[in-house]
Amino acid sequence: MMLSAGRGFAIEDGDQLAATALYLPYVPRLAWIGMVMTHPDFRRRGLATVLTEHCIREAETRGLTAALDATVAGEQVYQRLGFERVAEVSRMLRSANTHADGAKPLRASGAAAQRSIQQFGPSHAVADDVLALDAEVYGVDRSSILGDLIRRAPDLSLALMSESGRVLGYCLGRRGRQVRQVGPVVVRDEGDGSAAVDLVARNLGENGPVLIDVPDLHDSFRRRLESAGFERQRGYIRMVRPTGASFSHTSYLKRVFGIGGPAIG
Ligand SMILES: CC(C)(COP(=O)(O)OP(=O)(O)OC[C@H]1O[C@@H](n2cnc3c(N)ncnc32)[C@H](O)[C@@H]1OP(=O)(O)O)[C@@H](O)C(=O)NCCC(=O)NCCS
Repeated sequence: MMLSAGRGFAIEDGDQLAATALYLPYVPRLAWIGMVMTHPDFRRRGLATVLTEHCIREAETRGLTAALDATVAGEQVYQRLGFERVAEVSRMLRSANTHADGAKPLRASGAAAQRSIQQFGPSHAVADDVLALDAEVYGVDRSSILGDLIRRAPDLSLALMSESGRVLGYCLGRRGRQVRQVGPVVVRDEGDGSAAVDLVARNLGENGPVLIDVPDLHDSFRRRLESAGFERQRGYIRMVRPTGASFSHTSYLKRVFGIGGPAIG
């Protein structure tokens, strides 16, 4: 999925894969770097550094700012390459059935009876409005990667609609081998936590492990997830390599309650 939207780089030793990195252009301003991994046998030899530098060059020759979500180990690599920490993200995991352990299911807020949730596929008119909302919020074009998510899991692609048919927020998802990931979760109005709750509540399903990566500024949303049986599993550090272009790297997160995962931002 991601290789068709961007470019992957790898270092091989004979026929063994030693290290990888992936670069996704989000024009006109960002290049998302993900999947930076070094096989345990090849660590601390500078391979992640070489591949990340390669991605930075690809980004910056195109006038794009390199950005990524780092693990704690990854942060050590990126700091040395000039990346700066701009935000934190928490991975919230619900490991099994919400009804176990006395957890309460996440219920829709019911804040506005005039809002309805619509499921959509790639050729549905709502999909274009969703991609336009995402572009407005992020200030970049992520349609290639989001289009793939919608194509792969239309049943997990939901839009919250106003009575007049305006998209107020959207939520996508994907099924991993073991865990289902909910996200991105993006809303039109800053801080509209009830839209995020309504969308995620519909996308959780009853059983099975689910995760959602929530920017830490959405404290009360995280607490809602915790009361529904989610636990914080780990953190990521959102980092950017400053290039002098003037835009805020964090204000858009007020409208992002769930990212799409560290590999896509
Ligand atoms: C994080 C990871 C990609 C680093 O790969 P690597 O090829 O070993 O990294 P490099 O050799 O380029 O490291 C460069 C520098 O970063 C720092 N660094 C790298 N890994 C570190 C670690 N585990 N702890 C502390 N510092 C570390 C060191 O300063 C290192 O230089 P040094 O070895 O001369 O001291 C690798 O440990 C890995 O795949 N981890 C699991 C997946 C992961 O977390 N990926 C990052 C996603 S953001």
